[in-house]
Amino acid sequence: MKLLQFFCLVSLLILDVAFGVKHELFKRCDQSGFCRRNRHYGNEISKTQNKYYSINEESVKFGHSVITGDIQKSLNQSHSVRLPFTLEILENNNIRLQIDEDRSKFEFNHKLLQKERYNEAWKYAFNGIPKISKNYKVSDISNGQFDILYGKDEQYKLEVYTEHFEIIVKYHNEPQIIFNERSFLNVEHIRSKDNHESSLLQEELNFGSFQDSFKDSKADTLPFGPESVALDVTFQGFKHVYGIPEHADSLSLRDTTASEPYRLYNVDIFEYEVDSRLPMYGAIPLLVAHKPGVSAGLFWVNGADTYVDIKKQDRSVPNALREHIDTQTHWISESGIIDVVIFIGSSPTEITSNYAKLSGQTQLPQLFSLGYHQGRWNYNDEEDVLTISENMDKYEIPCDVIWLDLEYTDSRRYFTWKKGSFPDPERMLAKLNETYRSLVTLIDPHLKLNYEVSDQVSEKNLAFLDKNGKDFHGHCWPGESLWIDTFNPNSQEFWTTLFANDSGFAGDATNLHIWNDMNEPSVFSGPETTAPKDVITYGNVEIRSDHNIYGLTYHEATFEALKERYINKRPFVLTRSFFAGSQRSAAMWTGDNMSKWEYLKVSIQMILNQNIANMPFSGADIGGFFGNPSKELLTRWYQTGIWYPFFRAHAHIDSRRREPWVPGEPYTSLIRNAIRLRYRLLPLFYTKLYQSHVNGSLVLDPLFYKFPDNRDVFEIDDQFYIDGLLIKPVTEEGAESINIYIPDDEIHYDYDTFQKFQGLGDHRISTPLEKIPVLIRGGTILSRKDRYRRSSKLTRYDPYTLVIALDSNRKAKGNLYIDDGETYNYKLADQYLYLELNFVDNILNSEILEGAGSTGGSTKVEKIQIIGDDLSFEEIFIKQNDTEWSGSFEKHDNYYVVKNPNVDLSKNWSVSFR
Ligand SMILES: *[C@@H]1O[C@H](CO)[C@@H](O)[C@H](O)[C@H]1NC(C)=O
Ligand SMILES: *[C@@H]1O[C@H](CO)[C@@H](O)[C@H](O)[C@H]1NC(C)=O
Ligand SMILES: *[C@@H]1O[C@H](CO)[C@@H](O)[C@H](O)[C@H]1NC(C)=O
Ligand SMILES: *[C@@H]1O[C@H](CO)[C@@H](O)[C@H](O)[C@H]1NC(C)=O
Ligand SMILES: *[C@@H]1O[C@H](CO)[C@@H](O)[C@H](O)[C@H]1NC(C)=O
Ligand SMILES: *[C@@H]1O[C@H](CO)[C@@H](O)[C@H](O)[C@H]1NC(C)=O
Ligand SMILES: *[C@@H]1O[C@H](CO)[C@@H](O)[C@H](O)[C@H]1NC(C)=O
Repeated sequence: MKLLQFFCLVSLLILDVAFGVKHELFKRCDQSGFCRRNRHYGNEISKTQNKYYSINEESVKFGHSVITGDIQKSLNQSHSVRLPFTLEILENNNIRLQIDEDRSKFEFNHKLLQKERYNEAWKYAFNGIPKISKNYKVSDISNGQFDILYGKDEQYKLEVYTEHFEIIVKYHNEPQIIFNERSFLNVEHIRSKDNHESSLLQEELNFGSFQDSFKDSKADTLPFGPESVALDVTFQGFKHVYGIPEHADSLSLRDTTASEPYRLYNVDIFEYEVDSRLPMYGAIPLLVAHKPGVSAGLFWVNGADTYVDIKKQDRSVPNALREHIDTQTHWISESGIIDVVIFIGSSPTEITSNYAKLSGQTQLPQLFSLGYHQGRWNYNDEEDVLTISENMDKYEIPCDVIWLDLEYTDSRRYFTWKKGSFPDPERMLAKLNETYRSLVTLIDPHLKLNYEVSDQVSEKNLAFLDKNGKDFHGHCWPGESLWIDTFNPNSQEFWTTLFANDSGFAGDATNLHIWNDMNEPSVFSGPETTAPKDVITYGNVEIRSDHNIYGLTYHEATFEALKERYINKRPFVLTRSFFAGSQRSAAMWTGDNMSKWEYLKVSIQMILNQNIANMPFSGADIGGFFGNPSKELLTRWYQTGIWYPFFRAHAHIDSRRREPWVPGEPYTSLIRNAIRLRYRLLPLFYTKLYQSHVNGSLVLDPLFYKFPDNRDVFEIDDQFYIDGLLIKPVTEEGAESINIYIPDDEIHYDYDTFQKFQGLGDHRISTPLEKIPVLIRGGTILSRKDRYRRSSKLTRYDPYTLVIALDSNRKAKGNLYIDDGETYNYKLADQYLYLELNFVDNILNSEILEGAGSTGGSTKVEKIQIIGDDLSFEEIFIKQNDTEWSGSFEKHDNYYVVKNPNVDLSKNWSVSFR
């Protein structure tokens, strides 16, 4: 025992020293041939003025819904490569440009190669086939140009230039976005290894075209040579751009001219760093640009290894009133086609929402999954799990889910349970179910060789293949493994049987949910900890081309399998790896970060960015994954984590236990208070997720989403709004007070004391450890459920408390969504309520906007609290079902309380304050 403790201590010390990402594991741009070539190409092109890409005017056809033609890439006087393009106006005034390559004349001698470039990323990234608008006008081609007018009042215009391929996108007569302004467009056409020198342009230097020098032992065989695609896109007058998660970096993206580009390549970046452009577990190639009056988005629909260079180009004229800065971006993908969608509108919300219409809205999660999740690598056995659950009750801490990491399995074989430790999983699940709690277990895509599941995957030809067409084998948690290829449609049926209620895996319990980890995929023995790029996925596609999409196909397969298991219940799946579209079926967390203050801080930036990229159901491990947080850090992390839409504490196997009762008083009470605050606000979180589900709105709004005209907020990424709550988590050790920035002149009230803060700018708030800095913006109506319950499902029949914070015009507004919290009945049978609460002219009105029928829970209101200045009401009259009666209330200094108004939210009602 002593010896073991000693060993643990030593290993902790060693770990502490060893923390830090292993840079040498990951390629830099100059070690990735295609990135280096394209950066070089860009540099050379800007010197030479060479413009190799033009539109063949004779090839252009103006169809009813699409414009097609050929771009020519000129190699020399007599030779060019044909690159067919399509240009479409999609609904909501989005533009889509695709550029492919005609390879029909090329002699292929590799049997595994598809004759076409990979062009299916959109099938995963879009939610179905996008709708095309036929509502546009197009001019004839003259003087090397044609124009397309579209949108309401023809407020959008595309100017397409043919001699030197370029497209200018105008909105309200101003150029906003320019394709190929800098001539970085580059499509590396197919060539054979033997005579590729002759088919090179001078600028297309041969950096690693057919060979990779990264690490000899893990070198990429590059069987098909260079096939990258690249394009430059300028955002005119936009100083700030955001998005392209996942990176542990500031919200407003940095200039990368003198550093590494932002890289999108899903990898297991164990112990990552903050302030970094290194790739991480997931990738959403959506960039959002914003300036007052105009916002724009660029969706680079490509699932291959991708680098994005960002340059802030100062074009201010001397003595001008305002600086003029363009953001110039350079998108470089290793393979696939150019497939890019542009969004332009008047606000950032419009961009995210337009993107959501294309790529799919966030799932509506079960209510329980917005509650508190208690995880750890690992809870050792059934008794450990049940004791954790009992302790939650003993310490009166609400909790919805206990998590089992890797070690619950028998020798890391998924779909098995460790013998002895988990003798009767069904019994354990039934026990948890007594308090309406759930269990989440880990199921990863690597499958240990030589057991039932992997044997079947192999027999059914559902595994990734290596470059010779044999099952690909690599190293991961269980040792030698194969990977289920969820690009293969046949995988779904098999995967579904593994989760079925008669599969033997946890019986028919419906309080079992699934966590998909390591789905980048993580391959310990592979280059950059992932699969070699010449691994073959379904349909003879090298994983080089669909790498970033794999994680999505895997968690979607799990989601679909669980749907079968639960019949009408919404599955909960947590994924580490993700791609555009993942929001439709999974929650994400930020992976394996550390128990340090700077990670607490960057978690907010990362989660805001996930919101911008329409994947709001996201969180970070409370307390940090690696290491042992101080009690103060742990407490602050809970106080921050209650605002993450996905709220889970989790820890590495080598860290000490740190469940809420472990730190002792006063910390345990402070953590309890924080978690209970989250539970009181569950109706708010649930309503925000419903709104996101329906309209693609954000759950956490960065300040510039709410105040798009206030330039001072464009870089603020340490505070945010959830509806009308303005939150600034404390992320500094020992902070006795902090500044919170109020973005306009509206009144804001302290959440706890109702103290008034007013005036644009910084306000000092004192932040002893018990203080969670939250202000309620005047004009907000919040719905809460205030009673303590052991889990969220137990709050179902609890009545609501409404909190009305009046603005300077004595108005306020809010929405509330209610349904049964777990099934799809809200879709099938309209069994939900979406209502608006509106306080105006001293009358509070509650009106049903959508939905009908039962919600399967309480719709009673037990309390209405009204906060404002100079309240001077003497009496109130409540009205429902055509009867009116006078109610009573209590007066306090700066708020009034109406107790038991006896109204029911399932019918319209009103309260008149006189
Ligand atoms: C032009 O390019 C083609 C294709 O790369 C090549 O075969 C040909 O030799 C080149 N011709 C000249 C004159 O350089
Ligand atoms: C098991 O699943 C099947 C198919 O989804 C379903 O018909 C059946 O009712 C389920 N059984 C139980 C006990 O949930
Ligand atoms: C879980 O518990 C609830 C309440 O006791 C019960 O209605 C439900 O049937 C239980 N579910 C299972 C799978 O045992
Ligand atoms: C890392 O995880 C911690 C929790 O594990 C999270 O708070 C933090 O934000 C994450 N790091 C980053 C950069 O997220
Ligand atoms: C979605 O947006 C529409 C149009 O703005 C609005 O009327 C509706 O209330 C919104 N619905 C939700 C649930 O946010
Ligand atoms: C409730 O209010 C909404 C919105 O004003 C209205 O459309 C609806 O008809 C009202 N319902 C009833 C039963 O009056
Ligand atoms: C109005 O009618 C609904 C259902 O018809 C009922 O639940 C509610 O209690 C009624 N309200 C009042 C104040 O009687």
